[in-house]
Amino acid sequence: MLKLFAAAWLAAFSLAAAAVAETYPSRPITVVVPFAAGGPSDAMMRILGERMKLSLGQPILVENVTGAGGSIGVARVVHSASDGYTIGFGHLGTHVANGAIYKLNYDLVTDLEPIVLLPSNPMIIVSKNAVPATSLRELIAWLKSRAQPATAGTAGAGSGTHIAGLAFEAASGAKLQFVPYRGTGPAMNDLVAGQIDIIIDQLSNSINQVRAGTIRGYAVTDAKRAVEAPEIPTTDEAGLQDFHMTLWSGLWAPKGTPKEIVARINAAALDALSDRRTRKNLETLGLQMPPPDQSAPEALGEWQKAEIAKWWPIIKAAHVAVD
Ligand code: MLT
Repeated sequence: MLKLFAAAWLAAFSLAAAAVAETYPSRPITVVVPFAAGGPSDAMMRILGERMKLSLGQPILVENVTGAGGSIGVARVVHSASDGYTIGFGHLGTHVANGAIYKLNYDLVTDLEPIVLLPSNPMIIVSKNAVPATSLRELIAWLKSRAQPATAGTAGAGSGTHIAGLAFEAASGAKLQFVPYRGTGPAMNDLVAGQIDIIIDQLSNSINQVRAGTIRGYAVTDAKRAVEAPEIPTTDEAGLQDFHMTLWSGLWAPKGTPKEIVARINAAALDALSDRRTRKNLETLGLQMPPPDQSAPEALGEWQKAEIAKWWPIIKAAHVAVD
């Protein structure tokens, strides 16, 4: 009897979910970006949203819910209705590193549905113009020669810039004093104004300032030079061998979001990534497209789990203090 009831309930639930998915979306979709407006996550999501709204037929509203390395914005998504009208943007920091740093009231894997892998951002080592160095070797020598550690802007403990900063300390032997912001948009303003010394930043956040000469770029943390910034050497070329890091990103929905809705958003994101104009806008910022064979929601889920297995032991061993 109980089995019969459960089967009937499941069938009714699946029918209702299919009906909802058929009319989806019938109103604007909010995408929570867990960092400040004007930063790299915000910029990527706004570029994608411009195109996604065409295929979804509804506006994409970007809401910046900031703080605690992005974990507050992710919590907002986890605790939203699983109806496809609130989804979240995130990256290696928010959806991997934060689980090893913060006491989260949610599980990064089981409380979210992966939707799609988005472009990756190589990192770039940048400083304010007043730093007396013109190469990465000189920068590292300057950092090591200081009585007090130089200040390095981050988007909070566990953010991409923070993980990259920790990795840079380990690779270079230099000590940094991390200064947390609600995103690297505001951190960049302070770098340009000379209030902080360096950022191990996402390329897309720094590229226009480096081109304009308002900050200095030393090296990109990738095996190859960035097509959009070919004048900047790689870390290998600049003397920091094997210091490679790219910050991948993605979209997630609250757990229980119907598969049909996840598939609809996935398709809209893939359409945006293959649109010539959208792609150009992303690539001009130095962003790298995700591999075509990793476009399914499951591919993001598997990738996130593999990254958790790789990064958590490293981050836990670093005993990162929260801001
Ligand atoms: C941002 O948009 O501010 C970032 O993605 C920050 C970061 O993780 O470093």
